[in-house]
This record gives sequence, C-alpha cells and structure tokens, in this order.
Amino acid sequence: MGEVQTARLIDGTAIAAEIRAAAIPAVQAFTNAAGRPPGLGIVLVGENPASEVYVRNKVKAGADAGLWVDLQRLPAGATLDELLRLVDMLNRSERHDGILVQSPLPDAMGRGASQRVFDAIDPDKDVDGFHPVNVGKLVQGRAHLKPCTPSGIIEMLDRSGIEIGGRHAVVIGRSEIVGKPMAMLLLQRDATVTVCHSKTPGLPSVAARGDILVAAIGRPGFVTREFVKAGATVIDVGTTPVRDRATVERLFAEGSARREAFAKRGSIVVGDVHPSVADVAGALTPVPGGVGPLTIALLLKNTLAAAEARRR
Ligand code: GUN
Repeated sequence: MGEVQTARLIDGTAIAAEIRAAAIPAVQAFTNAAGRPPGLGIVLVGENPASEVYVRNKVKAGADAGLWVDLQRLPAGATLDELLRLVDMLNRSERHDGILVQSPLPDAMGRGASQRVFDAIDPDKDVDGFHPVNVGKLVQGRAHLKPCTPSGIIEMLDRSGIEIGGRHAVVIGRSEIVGKPMAMLLLQRDATVTVCHSKTPGLPSVAARGDILVAAIGRPGFVTREFVKAGATVIDVGTTPVRDRATVERLFAEGSARREAFAKRGSIVVGDVHPSVADVAGALTPVPGGVGPLTIALLLKNTLAAAEARRR
C-alpha cells in the first residue's frame, strides 16, 4: 500500500454559484432590451424520482437567475405523439428561447422515443445540445449550444486550474448525454482521449492511465482505487438514488456524513466513484455538490445564449 493522500475536493456548488452570479447581469440586460426575460420550457413526463429532483433544481435555478421558466408536465401514460405536439408548440412559441425534455422518458413511450423527441426540438432552442445538428457541430468544434454536463465539467476543470491539453483523459461511459460529448470536448482541448465502457477488457488498468478520469456509468461506487492513477483528477458524474441499506453500508464508513444522511432520509444519491478513491486521486468531485450544480449553471448559460441568438 502506498502513502495515503487525501484528494482535494472540487467544490461544484461554489463554481456553479460564480457562473450563475455572472449570468444575472446578462439576463437583466436581455430582459431590459427584449422587454421580456429569456424563456426556458422544461418538459417532464411521468414521475421518475431522480428526474423530479433534477427538474425541481433546474426550475428553481432558472427562476433565481431571472429566467422565465415554464414547467410542462405530462402524465406517465402520455403518448409520444402528445409529447411531440407539445414540443411543436414550444418550437413555435415566441416566449420560449430554450426547450429541454428531461430524459429518461417512460419506457412505455417505446424504444427510440428520446431520439425522436430530441430530433423534433428546434436546434436553435436546443439548450441540451442533443439535436443531431448540434451534435454534428460539436464534433466539428463549432457548437453554439453544447451539452450541459460535459461543458460544465470543462468549466470546472478550467476554474480549478487543472490542465487539459496534453494530458490523457479517460471517459468511462459512452452515452449521448455525457460520455460521447465529453470525449469530444476533451479532444478539442488537446487531451488524448480514451473512451471505455462495459465491454472494455481490463477496464481498471485502462482507466488508471488517465490523468483525468470521468466516470459516467451510473453504477454506485463502481470506480475503485485500482481504476485511478495516483494524483489523477477524478470527475464523478454518477447520481444514482440508493435506498438499500446494504449498499450504503458497503460504500460508506460508519459515522460518515453520507451514512447519517441515509439514516435521516432513507435514501441518498450516490456517485460512480468509490469513497476510497479519495486516498489515491489528486482532486475529486463530490456527489452531491460536484458536477450536478455545474450542469444547471450551464443550462442557464445556454438558455441565455439561445435567447440572445434568437434576438439577433
Ligand atoms: N437526464 C439526465 N441528464 C440530463 C440532461 O442534461 N438533460 C436532459 N434533458 N435530461 C437529462
């Protein structure tokens, strides 16, 4: 066993607060010039508990920043056609500058429903950056609206003084929302990028080559010390609600704040990175309070950017 080192915690809440504070005067200037605030339509279908939390935070952060936030809810039994009609209404609306349909959609909407919905959103209002036109622009390095979580992670690295260019970045996970766009953004910043996933042989040793390791797989505590190079920066994108006591006790030490939170609430949100990684990593994002707040801050920035571009 090597020496025990305790990773610097990257305070996502504080960094996001800086970004949000900087956005407020720009939101005000837009509102004065346009005679209305930038408008964000958020669509939530059904009652997925994690999505409820994300959407509540997005609505509150938007309103706090001075946006007009219009939450549109559809019941879990809504059809894909109903959802597409709602998106069409938001596309045509003068007051909605940004549109976000919270993912995942209920399984009952059928396979491929999310892609059909993302395809239907006006690319100029696509504050998630998931429309194929925006994905294509992202790949070409000329995106206007970039996916919020990966661009929030880049902001976080920059504002924490962590070098990206010339370093080896490893991304675990290849989702359209995080893994793939994350790899593109890191590549554009001159990192050497490895993308790995559940079928990657020898995953821990591949991950351990990363100076920067981004874990975006959605499996609580999956990334253990053996995945992490000594001194690496580890970004934990996981946010899995855990209600099962055995899992909490396996991951978190007795008397820890996370165990206490679980005892109080019966459920906690757990990242992909095992707590013991703090002994190996140089810097680490906590869950909660790491990547999540950045995602929301970048959503506000994208909404403002979409509003400004629509007025031009
Ligand atoms: N579900 C999890 N993350 C996101 C996100 O960034 N945008 C949307 N629309 N859904 C999500």
